[in-house]
Amino acid sequence: EPPTACREKQYLINSQCCSLCQPGQKLVSDCTEFTETECLPCGESEFLDTWNRETHCHQHKYCDPNLGLRVQQKGTSETDTICTCEEGWHCTSEACESCVLHRSCSPGFGVKQIATGVSDTICEPCPVGFFSNVSSAFEKCHPWTSCETKDLVVQQAGTNKTDVVCGPQDRLRLVPR
Ligand SMILES: *[C@@H]1O[C@H](CO)[C@@H](O)[C@H](O)[C@H]1NC(C)=O
Ligand SMILES: *[C@@H]1O[C@H](CO)[C@@H](O)[C@H](O)[C@H]1NC(C)=O
Repeated sequence: EPPTACREKQYLINSQCCSLCQPGQKLVSDCTEFTETECLPCGESEFLDTWNRETHCHQHKYCDPNLGLRVQQKGTSETDTICTCEEGWHCTSEACESCVLHRSCSPGFGVKQIATGVSDTICEPCPVGFFSNVSSAFEKCHPWTSCETKDLVVQQAGTNKTDVVCGPQDRLRLVPR
């Protein structure tokens, strides 16, 4: 009686259970009563990542430099190539099919988390006591200068975009002759 179901890593064809091809190989011919399944390794720049009965291997993904992409991990006969973006850019999607420039944080905002190949810059408003006077994809909020530690006093208050301006102590300025 012919089988109706086959074991794992097998497939049913012509009332026969044939072995699937292992990852990295494609199917050339189904097994017969007398011969095993015939498989052949994928060519260079091709892959198959599962036990399969595919007659063609898949092409490795191409990391197109014109789209800002570069190879993060070269593909093998069993794995696809993984692309990522050039320095300063990050992927627009999980599959990383193209890249966009990292966002900059405007003055008044600092970088909370620097962008990576896959995620954009995260900005945060500078809290009281901190400032950022540049638009940057790297700079954090900087703390205001501490005038006291320089034996000076605050001449002009700081904002989220400007540092404190220190001046000489009034006591010294007002010392009578
Ligand atoms: C910076 O400070 C100004 C004035 O206090 C305020 O209006 C503005 O919202 C602040 N900006 C940020 C990013 O917190
Ligand atoms: C930003 O602030 C720093 C420190 O106060 C100062 O040295 C620099 O010149 C400022 N840059 C701009 C663009 O205002």
